[in-house]
Amino acid sequence: MKNSPTTVPPTSNKHLIRWVEKMADLCQPDKIHWIDGSQAEYERLCDQLVEAGTFFPLNEKLWPGCFYARSSPNDVARVEDRTFICSLSKDNAGPTNNWEDPFIMRRKLKQIFRGSMRGRTMYVLPYSMGPIGSPMSQIGVQLTDSAYAVVNMRIMARIGLPVFAEIDKDEKRVVPCLHSVGAPLAPGEQDVPWPCNDEKYIVHFPETREIWSYGSGYGGNALLGKKCFALRIASNIARDEGWMAEHMLIVGVESPTGEKTYVAAAFPSACGKTNFAMLIPPKGFDGWKVWTVGDDIAWIKPDANGQLRAINPEAGFFGVAPGTSAKTNPNAMATLARNTIFTNVALTPDGGVWWEGMTDTPPAECTDWRGQRWTPQIGQESGRPAAHPNGRFTAPASQCPTIDPAWEDPNGVPISAFIFGGRRPTTMPLVYQSFNWSAGVYIGATMGSETTAAAGAPVGTVRRDPMAMLPFCGYHMGDYFRHWLKMQRNLSSTPRVFHVNWFRKDDQGRFLWPGYSDNMRVLKWIVDRVRGRAQGKETPIGWTPHYEDIQWQGLDFPEEAFNTLQAVDRVQWKKEVMGHEELFLALHDHLPPEMIYERELLICRL
Ligand code: OXD
Ligand code: MN
Repeated sequence: MKNSPTTVPPTSNKHLIRWVEKMADLCQPDKIHWIDGSQAEYERLCDQLVEAGTFFPLNEKLWPGCFYARSSPNDVARVEDRTFICSLSKDNAGPTNNWEDPFIMRRKLKQIFRGSMRGRTMYVLPYSMGPIGSPMSQIGVQLTDSAYAVVNMRIMARIGLPVFAEIDKDEKRVVPCLHSVGAPLAPGEQDVPWPCNDEKYIVHFPETREIWSYGSGYGGNALLGKKCFALRIASNIARDEGWMAEHMLIVGVESPTGEKTYVAAAFPSACGKTNFAMLIPPKGFDGWKVWTVGDDIAWIKPDANGQLRAINPEAGFFGVAPGTSAKTNPNAMATLARNTIFTNVALTPDGGVWWEGMTDTPPAECTDWRGQRWTPQIGQESGRPAAHPNGRFTAPASQCPTIDPAWEDPNGVPISAFIFGGRRPTTMPLVYQSFNWSAGVYIGATMGSETTAAAGAPVGTVRRDPMAMLPFCGYHMGDYFRHWLKMQRNLSSTPRVFHVNWFRKDDQGRFLWPGYSDNMRVLKWIVDRVRGRAQGKETPIGWTPHYEDIQWQGLDFPEEAFNTLQAVDRVQWKKEVMGHEELFLALHDHLPPEMIYERELLICRL
C-alpha cells in the first residue's frame, strides 16, 4: 500500500482487522479510512464528493443540507440478471435465482477485485441493521471504494463507532460485505463523477453469509445493507433461526380511542409501498392516525409469548422520486425537504430538484438526469423524462412527520396482520381475508402484478412475485413457503392475512378505486377484523366486507360500484388458479404439500 492507513482501526476485533488487511491486499487501495460515522466526517465526505463533481449542493434556503447526484446512464437500477446466490448446491438457490458454483465464483471475484480500488480510498463502514444493541439487529461491515455509498449508508443504516463498540462487546458475528465500483485509477488519472464498470456482479454466499458487489455505485447494488443483507442474506439467517426477513412496510394504525394496531404489508416494487407506509387518513376519519415504522423491509420474530414482533432494519427511505408529490405523499415530501440526497432527478436553475409528478406544471427549464437541458417541449418531442423513472431520494426516516414513536423500539412492534397486494386490473377484489394461516401463505405465494406494455411481456399476463420476494429471497422459494407455514408453530396467535388490490379497472380501463388516502377505509376494515368487531361475508376465496362494513363517511361511493369492485368472478378465478400452476411446477420438488391442498380446496370452492 502506498500510504499508511489514514485512520487507526477503532476496533480490537482481530478477525475484522485481519479481513480488512486481506481485502486491502486484494483490492490495493491507496488508503484505508475507518468510518466513525460522525457528522463532521459526513460533511468532509460530502465536500469531497462536491469537489469530485459527484455531488452538487442544492440551494441551502430551498433544500437545506441536500445534495444532488447523477449516475452514469449504465448504472441506474438494481441488476437482477447480474445478481447471484452462490449456495453450495444449486438446488438450495432454487429456480428463481441465478446460481453459480461458489468455488468458481470466488475465483472469478478474486480476479476482478484484484487491484480494483487502486488510486482510491477503501472505507471500512460498520453498520447495524436495526437499532444498535437490539436483540433483533444484525451487523455488517462494508468495505467500499465509494464515498457516495458511505454517505447514503449513513442515512439508510446506523453506522460508525457505536457499531464498532457493539462488535467488540461480545465479538458479534458480522456479515462481511466487499464493494467496489470497479474503476481503479492509474497514477495521475482524472476521476469521473460517477465511476462504475459495465461488468457487474452482485453476489451472495448464503452459507458463509458474505456479500461481494462489483461494478455499480447505485442503490441496492451498492448500499449493501438493504436488499443484499436485509433480504437475501437475512432471509437465510431467518430461516435457520426461526424468524422472517420480509420485503414489507410496517405501519401502526391508531384509532380515536388510542388503540394501536400494527400491520406489515408486501407489495411488488413500484406498487406504492412508500405511499401506503405514510398514508394520511381521508375526510371522515377524525382522530385516526397512521404511523410509519418502515417503508420497505421488516424483520419479524416471535417473542417469548409467541407474539410476532417486527423491526424496520433500516434508518432511512430510499424512495422512488417520480410520482411523489404534496398530493400523493405529503409526508414523504416533508421527509425529503432537508438532509436528503437526490439521485437521477432533474436540477432546476434555482438549485432545486424536480421530477415528473412533483408538480402539475413542470419548470420552464431544468437540467435532466443525464445533465442535458430539458424543457417541457424537449420532453414532449423527445419522449424523455426530466427525471429517470428510478430516480431516488435518500432521506432520514427520523424526519418523517408520521414516524412511529416506537419505530426504534429494540423489541419491535407487535404485528397483528399481514397484507399482500399487487397491480391487478382484473379478478382481484379490493380486499379479502384468508380463511386461515396456510390459505394466507397460499395467497402470498401466488400474488403478483399484471404486466404492462412497458414491461415488454404480453399484456394481461401476471408476473408472480411471491410475497414480493422474487428478486430478494436468498434461497429456494419452495423452502421459503415451507418456512412461512412452519412459523405458525411458534406463535400463540397468528396474524390475520389479507389481500388488497388498489388497481382494479372497469371495462373502459378506468380505475374503480380512488386509492391513496381512501385506502384507509380498507385498512380500518382490516383492523376491525383483527380486533374481532367487523363482519365479513364468506366467498370462495375468503372473507370480504359487506358494503356497510366499510366506513364511507367523506366519500360518495355507491353500493353498486363497491359490489363491482368486490366481485369474485368464478370464471376469472378459475383462470387465475390455473395461472398458479406455472409457479408451482417450477418449484415442484420443494413445494410444501400444503400449497397443493390449498389449491385443491380453492378449486373445489370455486
Ligand atoms: C426497492 C425495490 O428499491 O423493491 O425498494 O426495488
Ligand atoms: Mn423494495
